[in-house]
This record gives sequence, C-alpha cells and structure tokens, in this order.
Amino acid sequence: MKIISSPQEMKAFSTSAKAEGKKIALVPTMGALHDGHLSLIDKAKELADIVVVSVFVNPTQFGPNEDFDKYPRQLEEDAQACQQRGADIVFAPSANDIYAPDASTFVSEEQISQYLCGQSRPKHFRGVTTVVSILFNIVKPDCAVFGEKDAQQVSIIERMVRDLFIDVEIVRAPIIRDENGLALSSRNKYMDRLERLGATRIHNALVEAKKMIETENCDNVDRIKAYVINNIANAKARVIYAEVVDAKTSLPVSRHETGKSRISVAVWYGQTRLIDNIQI
Ligand code: PAF
Repeated sequence: MKIISSPQEMKAFSTSAKAEGKKIALVPTMGALHDGHLSLIDKAKELADIVVVSVFVNPTQFGPNEDFDKYPRQLEEDAQACQQRGADIVFAPSANDIYAPDASTFVSEEQISQYLCGQSRPKHFRGVTTVVSILFNIVKPDCAVFGEKDAQQVSIIERMVRDLFIDVEIVRAPIIRDENGLALSSRNKYMDRLERLGATRIHNALVEAKKMIETENCDNVDRIKAYVINNIANAKARVIYAEVVDAKTSLPVSRHETGKSRISVAVWYGQTRLIDNIQI
C-alpha cells in the first residue's frame, strides 16, 4: 500500500491506472478510522480493482466554534488499518495542497442542505460538497462509498452528482454499531466509556420508535418526533433535531410511508455532537 500526499501524484496514479482499464473506488474519510470506515473499504474492494482511502480533515466543513482543532488526527494508525484491510492507496493531502490561499470557488447543494444538520451547521454541507468534488477531480474514481450514518450527507452527494453530471457512482453502506448499539463515529473518541454507554439511548429510542410505529400503525410525523425526543432527552442528552425524512432524499416528509422513510436525529450528548438514523 502506498501513501500519497500530493494531488499531482494522485492524479497521475489514477490516470495511468484508468489507462490500464482499472476501476477505482474512493472511500472519503477524515481519518480516525473505526470499523465503520473499514466496512466501507470492504465494500469498495468488492466494487473496484483499486481502493483509494482519502484521509483529510477538511477545514471548510467546520464552523468557527466547532471541533476542527481537536478532531482526532492519527495518520500512521489509519494507514496501518487501511493496509491491513487491503486498501491500495491512502491519499492524505494537507490543507494547503487542497485549497489555494485565495481559493474562492465552492460547490453548494441548496435544497437538502437547508434541513437537519444544515440548520445548526450553516456552511457544513457546502464544505462537504466542495471537498468531495475536489477529491473526485483528483482521484477520478468510478465509484465512491459513503456510510449511511451520515444519511443526509449521502443524499446531498447523490444530488450533487446527479445535478452536475459527475461520472461517479455513489454507493451507500450500512451503519456499523458498537456492541451496545451506538453508531460508530470518530467523534465517539471524545466520550469516555460511561458516556458512550449512556449515548446508546439514542439508538434505543430510534428502535423503540420503529416498534411503536409498526405496532400502532402510526404515520403521524409529529407524534413520531415527540416520541423520539421524549425517549432521548435527559440531563446529559439535548436533542438538536428529530425529523422524519424521505429515506432516499433526506427531505422532511409530512406523513410516514412504511419502508420509505427514515428518522434522523442529532443530539448533544454532553460535549459531543452525535447523529444517528433508522429506516422505518
Ligand atoms: O463523512 C466524512 O468523513 C466527511 O464529511 C467527508 C465525506 C470525508 C468529507 O470531508
């Protein structure tokens, strides 16, 4: 496995691999890899000849008072994990490699990103779509694999790829959870063991809501939202949003339709911002 930091070298590698008829899959990450990311590598290996894992803590997707500075950075460990899992390339550029000092061009999706996380993180998705476009231009993947924990992010990237006729197939991979049900996230590192255990109430509330919907045949979105909020909120957990959304587009719906919706939540658990969702 090779670690590449220069965008020019990455581009040259991809151009020659494609000239040889090789198919490339990209797994975009911000590092601090966990089993969720590793499952994306497994999926990517099924789909392509060459798997590129990008590791880049993207400054443009963090707001001014967010955790950009404290976001875990552990390239050596990440590269080892990628190698063990069978990735071919780790692409780990620096911020200066990606953004010119006077960079002034952004890619912005303007419908889906108005909702859910977009309301409390106003420029977050603009940063995500911009960096994902840049990564697509450098790595030139045939497909890219994203985890459904960030379901709204995947919906926005699917929309971007459709709207801009970008020739990359977007592949969704399921959420991976710890033994207690907490969705794996690099931000789980901010919590100690007890907090991680406490935060499992988020997933439990989603599972309970799904059961309630099924047993009571409930399609009332306000009732579902209230049920989820009541089951999550406590002294430690502050619900930022709980929404019933279309499972594919992540846009809020006014009635739940079985098999077609998802409950999405964001929660401050102590000092840690967590998101999760469940298909219903
Ligand atoms: O999901 C993430 O880790 C990031 O938002 C992504 C897609 C790698 C873009 O920086």
